[in-house]
Amino acid sequence: MSILKIRTIGDPILTKIAKPVEEINDFILKLATEMIDTMIAGDGIGLAAPQVGYSIRMLAIDLSLIEKDALPMVYINPEITKTEGECEMEEGCLSVPEVFANVKRPEKITFAYTDLDWKKHSVFADGYLARVLQHEIDHLNGHLFVEQLDKTEKSKISKKLKKIKPDGWTPKSK
Ligand code: NI
Repeated sequence: MSILKIRTIGDPILTKIAKPVEEINDFILKLATEMIDTMIAGDGIGLAAPQVGYSIRMLAIDLSLIEKDALPMVYINPEITKTEGECEMEEGCLSVPEVFANVKRPEKITFAYTDLDWKKHSVFADGYLARVLQHEIDHLNGHLFVEQLDKTEKSKISKKLKKIKPDGWTPKSK
């Protein structure tokens, strides 16, 4: 098992627009496994490739910490095609350790992605999956959840935010 270093807020890779994945090859398959291992070791429910140093459009999501029977999934070139409603939920991020805040986002989404067999899918999502996907796709566009907080939420986290060092951290293998 190999666990990758997670980049933290202040690292310039987190502000870049990630490039589309053009094919599935050994590198992508290895990265998919490493991203899943790293996310699980870090107790995360989602991880985007830029968070581990690769500016490409690829995500890992594992909802098993909150939904029984959920399996780790990898989404290549994910794209939201439709949004509905709005809701507020608390979010955190492995790149912004120990900071949690309420974020408003669309409640339901339709999204397209490619899987590791290079097959295309279009899927409807609500609940946690919709939430995590939107958070992770923001990473691919160079954005972190703390950028879109309202004033009250921003002031609640400002002290903790200043303490985060931009040199990253590596979760311990379980
Ligand atoms: Ni995040």
